[in-house]
Amino acid sequence: NPHNRLIIVSNRLPYRIEPDEREGFAFTRTVGGLVAGLEPLHAQPGNVWLGWADEPAGLDDAGRARFERALAERSCAPVRLDGRDAELYYEGFSNSTLWPLFHGFPQHTRFDEEAWEAYVRVNERFRDAVLALARPGDTVWVHDYHLMLLPSLLREALPDASIGFFLHIPFPDYETFRMLPWRRELMRGVLGADLVGFHAYDYVRHFLSSCRRIVGVENESGTLFADGRLAQVDAFPLGIDYGRYRDAARLPAVRRLVTELGEEKGHEGCKLMLSVERLDYSKGIPERLLAFDAFLDRFPEWRGRVVLVLVTVPSRENVASYAALKKQVDELVGLINGKHSTMDWTPVDYYYRSLPFERLVSLYAASDVMLVTPLRDGMNLVCKEYLACHDGAGGTLVLSEMAGASYELHEALTVNPFDQEGVVDAMRRALEMPEAEQRRRNAPMQERLARYTSEKWAREFLDAAADVKRRQAGLS
Ligand code: UDP
Ligand code: G6P
Repeated sequence: NPHNRLIIVSNRLPYRIEPDEREGFAFTRTVGGLVAGLEPLHAQPGNVWLGWADEPAGLDDAGRARFERALAERSCAPVRLDGRDAELYYEGFSNSTLWPLFHGFPQHTRFDEEAWEAYVRVNERFRDAVLALARPGDTVWVHDYHLMLLPSLLREALPDASIGFFLHIPFPDYETFRMLPWRRELMRGVLGADLVGFHAYDYVRHFLSSCRRIVGVENESGTLFADGRLAQVDAFPLGIDYGRYRDAARLPAVRRLVTELGEEKGHEGCKLMLSVERLDYSKGIPERLLAFDAFLDRFPEWRGRVVLVLVTVPSRENVASYAALKKQVDELVGLINGKHSTMDWTPVDYYYRSLPFERLVSLYAASDVMLVTPLRDGMNLVCKEYLACHDGAGGTLVLSEMAGASYELHEALTVNPFDQEGVVDAMRRALEMPEAEQRRRNAPMQERLARYTSEKWAREFLDAAADVKRRQAGLS
């Protein structure tokens, strides 16, 4: 139905555009929860995804036309950003102010007026790009912390449009949020949406509390009136494409990789513990490494019988705190391997790169224990993907209670990532857990994950957004 188009707006498009010798550019799919969840919707005819995409350097006119065509063929609309503004907006305000503060890292948070001003300008750029595209009847769904001003910028121009906003990271408590000199503008920005979604009820509560105290807007069960317009705030926990991971883990090619991994990483009886994440200070990587070191000290019987496979994916390398973390993790891995290694055993098997899908799935499937111990995480999909790859089987998930996913995955071994003793103990329990108990714990989690898929998440959000529109109409 051309009158019910969906315009998805996020900083990142579902494709990464990379330089290529022959064509001048190449498109590779970006992976991750946001893309997986929205993919089925994006694939419907007419729907468009709008995001940041600069033209690759050095294209001639024909190349430029090919680039435009390639984007259009993929139903993507580009937003072009000025280089300096892009840096201040992405590396600056988004990832040196909002990301650290919302994850509870005030020590990494910078408050910089120049970065804020660029953030405003970039949000206005996005507004102009949406307005150039939008037709009456379209639904606009804005995603994440890069674009918190966009809902109200759009509202000014399109008073009746259906506008949704979803935050993929935690929303902090009022005491933290109030630190932002621009708290009122950000609050007002989000309130331009008809429906505001978060991963968890705690984030909803925090948002509503800031809403009351900063802009004086009261709510009843998440329903509020912003400038006289009804809006709804609610929790929509994001899931995964469960079937995709479950089925991939059963492919013969993946099973072969699993066998190879078993042979390569350890001799008979050597267990695999895995962690996979972007190299980000919110993920608790040094803390996990220190806990593993303490584990090997405390339980020497496990030396030579367990390998920690540590996969870290390069991320935001131009932000200083990320570069510093890389150095710290390199050093810690070196220290631990130097201290414990023997001629035929290295405790930490460390990678700094992103993995192709089949590799990732085979690692999940081959691992006895999955360590997901972020200090703070809006949701975390890696833990869900691990469980899907062990569908109907054992495997132990150690999960931080600071991850949004822990609201749903009660049967995991939950840990407080700041409590080193507790993490050490969970490592031992996970490694020694009987297969029957592993299965008993996994079954209910797997059943829930198979039901609440990312596709269902997207559908529920859009249904709720349509419902807000009906309630608004009923009021007028
Ligand atoms: N992932 C990936 N390549 C890798 C490692 C991970 O595409 O080499 C994916 C992983 O499958 C997951 C996503 O990255 O879907 C990470 O999402 P999550 O919510 O766990 O963390 P985020 O990176 O969004 O903070
Ligand atoms: C988190 C954010 C996303 C972001 C992703 C990767 O999941 O919520 O908005 O796209 O991390 O980070 P990057 O900075 O590479 O887009």
